[in-house]
Amino acid sequence: MDFYEVVYQRRAIRKYKPDAVPREVLHKILDAANWAPSGMNLQQWEFIVVTGEKKKQLGESYRQAAESFTRDWEEKRRQAFLEFAQNYGGAPVVIVALTDATDDPGVRKMHLESVSAAFENLLLAAYAEGLGTCWMTGPLQDEASMRRILDIPPEKEIVAVTPVGYPDMVAKAPSRKDPDLTSKVRWVE
Ligand SMILES: Cc1cc2nc3c(=O)[nH]c(=O)nc-3n(C[C@H](O)[C@H](O)[C@H](O)COP(=O)(O)O)c2cc1C
Repeated sequence: MDFYEVVYQRRAIRKYKPDAVPREVLHKILDAANWAPSGMNLQQWEFIVVTGEKKKQLGESYRQAAESFTRDWEEKRRQAFLEFAQNYGGAPVVIVALTDATDDPGVRKMHLESVSAAFENLLLAAYAEGLGTCWMTGPLQDEASMRRILDIPPEKEIVAVTPVGYPDMVAKAPSRKDPDLTSKVRWVE
């Protein structure tokens, strides 16, 4: 698949078919993540691939957390969100990205940027494999439960989460705020 096609056509997917994703395909997209650039070449990212009972527990816990932070939302939007939270849109797999925790703000920034590069690789590779994903930081509102369910120690920081599965929706591309790059890019010489 053409690189730019992948970049332009990848979308956040929030409804998935229940079909299992072959392990070798998951391995392929995780390997793409592992080939990202990293600050000081530390390659300090880690991924947890969650399926089955643990995925169910994650979803139930996220829904419970969402019950409180969506209390003031309009009802239809709230119900749709809670349903998505409960089972991550029906995706058979959830991938959680971790990095080394640190108190040093400069090192933390570097780590977060490295993991973000890896995570974007993962999302793009998933799209190239016909899979849907949705970069999510919302579940971090339920971080304590995530740590408990997945046995994540304090030495690790949770960076992002994505469901992974075959899409059961077609997502509309959001428009660009500055499609001609007139205000977002400044050329200097
Ligand atoms: C850092 C980050 C955090 C995000 N967190 C969430 C989230 O918690 N829940 C969600 O449904 N989507 C989340 N998204 C997905 C964005 O809503 C989505 O990427 C954006 O609307 C643009 O749509 P697109 O990905 O289809 O281009 C997140 C994306 C990023 C990059």
